Amino acid sequence: MPQLGSLRWSVLWNSEDATAPVTENLSRTSKLRSLASQLSIYQTFAMFNSASIARPRMDEPRVDASGQSPSSQTRSGFPVDLDPLRLPRHVAVIMDGNGRWANQRGMPRIAGHRQGAKALKDLVRCCKDWGIPALTAYAFSTENWRRPTEEVDFLMALFEKLMRRELAEMRREGVRISFVGDLSELSPSLQSTLAEAMAQTAANTAVHFSVAINYGSRNEMVNACRRVAAQVQAGELSLAEISDTHIEQQLYTVGTVAPDLLIRTSGEQRLSNFLLWQLAYAELYFTDVFWPDFNRAAFADALRAFQRRDRRFGNAKDNIA
Ligand code: FPP
Repeated sequence: MPQLGSLRWSVLWNSEDATAPVTENLSRTSKLRSLASQLSIYQTFAMFNSASIARPRMDEPRVDASGQSPSSQTRSGFPVDLDPLRLPRHVAVIMDGNGRWANQRGMPRIAGHRQGAKALKDLVRCCKDWGIPALTAYAFSTENWRRPTEEVDFLMALFEKLMRRELAEMRREGVRISFVGDLSELSPSLQSTLAEAMAQTAANTAVHFSVAINYGSRNEMVNACRRVAAQVQAGELSLAEISDTHIEQQLYTVGTVAPDLLIRTSGEQRLSNFLLWQLAYAELYFTDVFWPDFNRAAFADALRAFQRRDRRFGNAKDNIA
C-alpha cells in the first residue's frame, strides 16, 4: 500500500488552512473506497479492534514486559506526584468548549475546532509518553449533524485532512488508530481515509487512539440488540445464554478495555450519548477548561483526581485487600 505524505504532526496541526482541497493520491483513494464499501461497518470494527488490552484492575500492580514496575523516570515529563502504577488503562474524552474558546477570542467556531485538534494531538502523544495505553475521543456525535452545514463540512474536511496527513507520523510513533461510530454515513472519500488509517496502524502497540465519528451510544446498543436477537432467532443462542459478553461483542469497541476515566471539558457535566455501556464503572472528571486549552498540566490534574478516587467496582471497602 503506498505511503502517505510524511509532513510532521506539528506542521499539519498548526495549519491555518484545514479545509484546503486534498489532491494527493487519488488512485489509492478509489482503491480503498472500493475496499471500504465491501466491508460492513461492523466487519470493519471487528477486524481492526480484535487486539485486546488487558482488563483494568486498579488493585493489581502493573509490570512491564521484563517484570519490572514502570517508574516515573522512564516516562517523559511524567508528573512526579503521580503513581505510575495506578494510571487509567483507557481514558475517554468529550472535547467540549471549542466554540466558546473561539468566541472568547472573537474568532469563528472553526478556529476552535482547529485548535482543539492540536490539543488532541498532544494528548495522544502524552498518553504514549506517560504509559496510558488507550485514548478515545468524541469527535462527532450522531446529533452533531444538526449543526450549521458550514461547520459540519469543516469538521468532516478536518478529519479527512488530518488523518491523511498525520498518518505517516502516527505510524512511525506506534499509534494504533481505530474509529467508532457508523462510518457508513460519511463520504466515501472519508471512509477510505479512515479505513486506510486503521489498516496501516493495526499492528502498532504504543498507544491505541480511537476516534468516535458519527457515534451515538444508543444506536450502538440498538444495533447490538438486533444482532443478538438475530442469533437467538437463528437458534444460535438461547435467551438464558445472553450475557454482558454477548452484548459487548457486538459493540464498536469490541476487544478494547472499557475506559477507567472519562474527562469532559468546558464545565458541562453530562455524557451526551457517549459510551454509555462502556463507562459503567468509569470515574467521571469534569473541568471548566475549554478543550483547546486542555494541555498536559490539565491532564495531570485529571489523573491526580483519578488517583484520589476509591474504586470498588461494587465491592465493600473493607473486603478489598
Ligand atoms: C465540541 O465543542 C467539539 C466538537 C463537536 C468537535 C471536536 C473535534 C475536534 C477537536 C477535531 C478532532 C480532530 C480529529 C482528527 C479527530 P463545541 O463546538 O460544542 O463547543 P461549544 O460547546 O463551546 O460550542
